[in-house]
Parts: sequence; structure tokens; C-alpha cells
Amino acid sequence: MKTIDVSARLSGKVLVVKVGGNVLSNDVSKSAFVKDIAFLTQLGIRPLIVHGGGPEITAMMEKLGMKPIFKQGYRVTDEETLKIVEMVLNKTNKDLVSALNIAGVMAVGLCGKDANFMIAEKDTTYGDIGYVGKVKRVNDKIIQLLFESDYVPVIAPIGVGEDGTAYNLNADVAAAQVAIALSAEMVIFMTDIEGVVKDGHVIPQLNVDEALKLIKDGTVKSGMVPKLQYAIEAVKGCVKSAHIINGKDPHSLLIKLFVSERIGTTITRD
Ligand SMILES: Nc1ncnc2c1ncn2[C@@H]1O[C@H](COP(=O)(O)OP(=O)(O)OP(=O)(O)O)[C@@H](O)[C@H]1O
Ligand SMILES: [Mg+2]
Repeated sequence: MKTIDVSARLSGKVLVVKVGGNVLSNDVSKSAFVKDIAFLTQLGIRPLIVHGGGPEITAMMEKLGMKPIFKQGYRVTDEETLKIVEMVLNKTNKDLVSALNIAGVMAVGLCGKDANFMIAEKDTTYGDIGYVGKVKRVNDKIIQLLFESDYVPVIAPIGVGEDGTAYNLNADVAAAQVAIALSAEMVIFMTDIEGVVKDGHVIPQLNVDEALKLIKDGTVKSGMVPKLQYAIEAVKGCVKSAHIINGKDPHSLLIKLFVSERIGTTITRD
């Protein structure tokens, strides 16, 4: 049986799951996601969750009369925006932790500031876009301690500079960097679309060169740019595969792992 084979293969392995803000802001997809994580822990798999919060951050900014600006999928983050980002992400984090705990998963919420877990520095790839960070170093000791005691880490994508400055990290970037640091078996990006789309069709399989080409030729835009860029980084590191699936489809995570590998887009090194 495929399910038994897969669960045996993944037992004890680290699976980094990035869950987008759109998945968590919908009660049906959020509740299915929480159940799927509970199921994975029962199989002895070690999920680590990194969450986004894009729609909520945008909604809060608009409520306060601020205009969200993006550059290549990255949110331009001035000091006021950073405050909102931290506030919203910390709330999203604790809400998810609480939902997991109710489902019997012992979850612990962290951001990069906790135990200096994700050290960041200013990212100037797209010019000066404020307090947008890139991950410089992941101190995985706290994560290993949590795993040893069967806790599920839930990470808000906030990094901390050596001087204590907070940085807004794109959640895809954070997920990939954590996956690399932990030598995770795979990283799964749960987003609001079926996968990487070209000419109206989902591309089931991409290697690094094919994925890079889609970024270069403009097929991939906005929020899909950092996702695909860092899926590439993950598989160039020691993560075996990266996957982009529609997290708004209830139980797509379990379906991808145990029923149909063909859903979404799979990115591998070769
Ligand atoms: N070629 C493409 N294929 C698929 N999606 C694409 C493509 N080009 C651009 N996109 C956009 O990328 C979006 C997904 O990225 P987005 O940042 O919006 O979501 P997320 O990363 O899942 O959530 P969050 O940013 O809250 O963590 C899609 O909804 C789609 O509009
Ligand atoms: Mg995004």
C-alpha cells in the first residue's frame, strides 16, 4: 500500500510546511490543515510550520489608511509597516498554535527573535525596501529541543538582526532557509493556487534550470517569484524536494503526500 510505504519513509523525518495567509484566513482550509498536521504527528513525522499573513497585514494597513506596496512579491516595509507586520504575524501565530493545541498537537509558536532563532540582515536585492530581511543564519538548537520532546514548532517569519532590529521576512524565504538548516526531507508551500501555472496549465514537475527560466521569462510573477526562487534554493541545498500546492483545497497536504503525487508543482534539483 502506497500510504504505508510513504508513512514509513517519512517517519522521523522533518517536513517543513509553509502555509500562506489565504489558507489560514479561511475557516474550512485552516481546520483541514490543522487536522492534517495532527495526522502527520501521529505517524511520527516531524512537521515544522512556517506561516504567512499577507492578506491580514494588507487589511490592517488599509484600515489604518496605509497603502501596501510590493516589489517582486516583497512587501516594502517602513517602520510603521514593520509594527503592523509584527503585530499581525504574532496574532496569526498564536491563533494557529491554539488551534493545533485544541486538535491535540502540542504546538509552540516562535519568531526569529526567540532564542535568536533566525538571524537576519537587510535585503537590498530589489533596492532599499525598508525592513525586509534575508536570513543570514538559523540557530536550530531550539527547534531540535522541541522536536526531541515532540512539540510542533510554528514559526512567524520575523527575523532579528545582530543588533536586535526586527526584519520582515517573506515566509517562503524563511521556510526554505529553515528547511535547509534542518536538512528537511521536503518543503511544501501551501498557497492559494494549484501550482506554478503556464499558459493556463499547472506544471507538474520542474528542475532547477526550468524553474529559473520561468522566473527570467516573466511567466512567474508577484508572490510566486520568492516562492519559486526559494524552492530552488531549498533543493540546491540538501532538501530533497519542494512542492507548491493549493492549500485552499481542504486536505491537499495529505492528498499530496499519500494519494496523488501529481497534484501541484514539484521542484527537484535535476
Ligand atoms: N505563473 C504563476 N503561477 C502561479 N501563480 C502565480 C504565477 N505568477 C504569479 N502568481 C501569483 O502568485 C500568488 C501566490 O503568492 P502569494 O504571495 O500571493 O501567496 P502566499 O505566498 O501563498 O501567501 P502569503 O504571502 O500570505 O504567505 C498566486 O495567487 C498568483 O496570483
Ligand atoms: Mg507570498
